[in-house]
Amino acid sequence: MKLSKTLVFSFGIVTYNIVSALPSEGTSAGCQRVALNASTNIWQGYILHQSDPDYAQLISLAAGRIQDETLTQKALKVADAGTFLSIDNPQAFSKLERTLQESIPCNHIVGVTLQGMGLPEQGSYSDWPGYKMPIMPEEHKRVYVDPLASMISANPSTAFALIIEPFTLPAFIKHDGRNLSMLETIYHASIPYALESLGNLPNAILYLDAGHGGLLGWHQTLPLVASNISAVYKVANSPPQFRGIAINTHNYNAWDLSPGEFATTRETRNYAQNEQTYLRLLGTRLQQLGVPNNAIMDTSRNGIHGLREEWDRWCNVYGAGLGRFPGPNLQPGQQELDAFIWAKGPGYSDGSSDSVIGIYRKYCGGIDAHKPSPERGEWFQEYFETLVREAHPSVGV
Ligand SMILES: *[C@@H]1O[C@H](CO)[C@@H](O)[C@H](O)[C@H]1NC(C)=O
Ligand SMILES: *[C@@H]1O[C@H](CO)[C@@H](O)[C@H](O)[C@H]1NC(C)=O
Ligand SMILES: *[C@@H]1O[C@H](CO)[C@@H](O)[C@H](O)[C@H]1NC(C)=O
Repeated sequence: MKLSKTLVFSFGIVTYNIVSALPSEGTSAGCQRVALNASTNIWQGYILHQSDPDYAQLISLAAGRIQDETLTQKALKVADAGTFLSIDNPQAFSKLERTLQESIPCNHIVGVTLQGMGLPEQGSYSDWPGYKMPIMPEEHKRVYVDPLASMISANPSTAFALIIEPFTLPAFIKHDGRNLSMLETIYHASIPYALESLGNLPNAILYLDAGHGGLLGWHQTLPLVASNISAVYKVANSPPQFRGIAINTHNYNAWDLSPGEFATTRETRNYAQNEQTYLRLLGTRLQQLGVPNNAIMDTSRNGIHGLREEWDRWCNVYGAGLGRFPGPNLQPGQQELDAFIWAKGPGYSDGSSDSVIGIYRKYCGGIDAHKPSPERGEWFQEYFETLVREAHPSVGV
């Protein structure tokens, strides 16, 4: 059945009450055509789908290896939370295809992180010896953006939330003294096309990655973050489905810890000691430039603070715990934050601690990392168990 656009849009207006009106059962095949209203917080009507088709099985295997019965129960609960799926290589599209073949409840939203520019999802640039040229705009378009846009168009009854290119903008703005002008040029050549092509699909909503306060909350960097985002948004002709920014997707910060984790160190020159502050400072600037400034925030590992020597330490941090489970942000007075999300499934390793095997990133072997750790993207059982055990708020069973 093809519904008229007007009728479909009317579902988007009342985001809050619509949850009960949306059919909660049934597969995407039986769902109505989706038109997300990017002027509203769509997370009040949609639940983040487990968008990684392998994750549920990984959790069930992981839970089976745990001796402690309470911890096993908690681990199984993690499977109830949705996560985004990263498209960080062309083969990852087959995973997305498998997800879309499952039955997706009509009130679920599939989360996809577009990460085709060839930069790591986590870590600071200076910590990344594998740095090479990011892929060129033409290849980014052909290998990543166009196939993703086609898949979203081919599934008009499924809702999608997209995080666009984690760590790229933060890398060139916080260049750590390196000359990353080439990366900046490529970013400005690639991102507007991605925003325009994906940001005009009615069943998708877009968030452009803006790092986190520890990376970019400095007085020199805040205006540059806002002006760079504004530039790509405007070159993309202000796409209607652009909702704002994604924060905390690589490395992490607390949402509202005060004083912040590094408030008493040399990092005091940073204005954004927590993400709430970062969002307020950056959001004000974006608004002044006429850019939508709502946000989603990754909380897959930010439950515990005070574990790190420096903000830069991002790799399998020892003792880290899950933060809030994905869901809409319902706290009054904090309308800028749409939702807490998990950008990737907790339990995947951030990188190998072995300097000989795999791609070694120095912080993965650092004093505050959980070691030994397997290669990036592989299952890391001990780390998973720690995340679950140390979760804050704790996982209810
Ligand atoms: C989207 O939501 C806004 C804010 O609630 C509302 O004013 C607008 O009419 C909605 N747009 C559509 C097309 O429903
Ligand atoms: C983007 O940020 C860079 C700093 O990395 C700055 O030099 C440049 O002027 C900014 N571009 C825009 C369009 O604001
Ligand atoms: C930085 O790199 C760009 C291109 O890679 C080059 O054109 C420019 O001259 C470099 N700037 C400095 C200060 O080295």
